[in-house]
Amino acid sequence: MIIKGVEEISFENQRVLVRVDFNVELNNIDAVQEHFRFSIVKETIEYIAGFSGVKIALLTHFGRPEGKKDLQFSTERLMRSIENALERKVVFVSDCVGSSVGESLERLSGNEILLLENVRFYSGEEENDLLFAKQLAEPFTVYVNEAFSVSHRAHASIVGVPKLLPAAGGFCLQKEMRELDNARFRPERPAVAIIGGAKIETKLPLIRSLEENYDCILVGGKIANEALDQKIAFSSKVLLPQDFNSPQRLDIGPTTIAYYTQIIKQAKTIVWNGPMGKFEEKPYDIGTDAILHAILESGAFVVIGGGESLAVLEEAGVMAKVSFVSSGGGAMLEYLSGKQLPGIEALQSK
Ligand code: 3PG
Repeated sequence: MIIKGVEEISFENQRVLVRVDFNVELNNIDAVQEHFRFSIVKETIEYIAGFSGVKIALLTHFGRPEGKKDLQFSTERLMRSIENALERKVVFVSDCVGSSVGESLERLSGNEILLLENVRFYSGEEENDLLFAKQLAEPFTVYVNEAFSVSHRAHASIVGVPKLLPAAGGFCLQKEMRELDNARFRPERPAVAIIGGAKIETKLPLIRSLEENYDCILVGGKIANEALDQKIAFSSKVLLPQDFNSPQRLDIGPTTIAYYTQIIKQAKTIVWNGPMGKFEEKPYDIGTDAILHAILESGAFVVIGGGESLAVLEEAGVMAKVSFVSSGGGAMLEYLSGKQLPGIEALQSK
């Protein structure tokens, strides 16, 4: 899909609403994994801020406050981390709609950037209410989506606002699409996918889609148990564990580890989503750890995404060694499964 990119727009004297995804775990806020969501928007913000007379506001959701103002989910709590990541002064507005937004925008000066209150304090966001989208868009002249990881949600700030304003995708969102398109359609062979974690119903479309262009799909984690229990039929490209390291099947066993790592060693492209077992509890981290090290030693082009996979990378301190880290969990899965993401459709070049 061809979308309009920020590089095609002049932001001179514009009032720009940038939708970001700063949906992070607060108790983990200083972690690399969380810092990642702040820092990936920097390039786009710097680019827009380079135009004269431009005013920028950041809009995000944070947690699931279910349409109500609940201050434990206030974006004000993210201010310092955003300032550190963007190296700009952040001015907080305690609402995301209404006159205070336009007024604060006008008052911005120099290096300052506006941070709006959590968009999910209004039920109109998740209901994709047109009136709410109009209120969000009202003070602005341009909309930028730099939130690939929430672009699978048909929410007002993702699909409603781009219908009302000239809209474009940020650099990171564009890169995410490019890398995932390459990984899905043009992987260098042998191409190996490693799919683990939970929820077979969300991972099954991904496995089916990867079966088209991938040589091998290695399945582990809870979904492997679910696939075995439900006797799901796969093509010969899909491999399920041959043994487990505990009767409760909480991790893949030594035979499976040896078999999977042999295949990984030969790969030229690897997509990985989801751990091989209950990795957060020893000794059930052995399988995930062995797979991670085989991936890093393979020399393959490696694409990794999803909260749990990022947590594994972070714990091992190897985030920087991965070729491409996707910001998306659910969004990456849906994109690689071949679904059109509503937020990306909304940016389509007309
Ligand atoms: C994420 O963290 O995966 C995105 O921000 C989406 O959040 P959601 O699942 O609450 O919509």
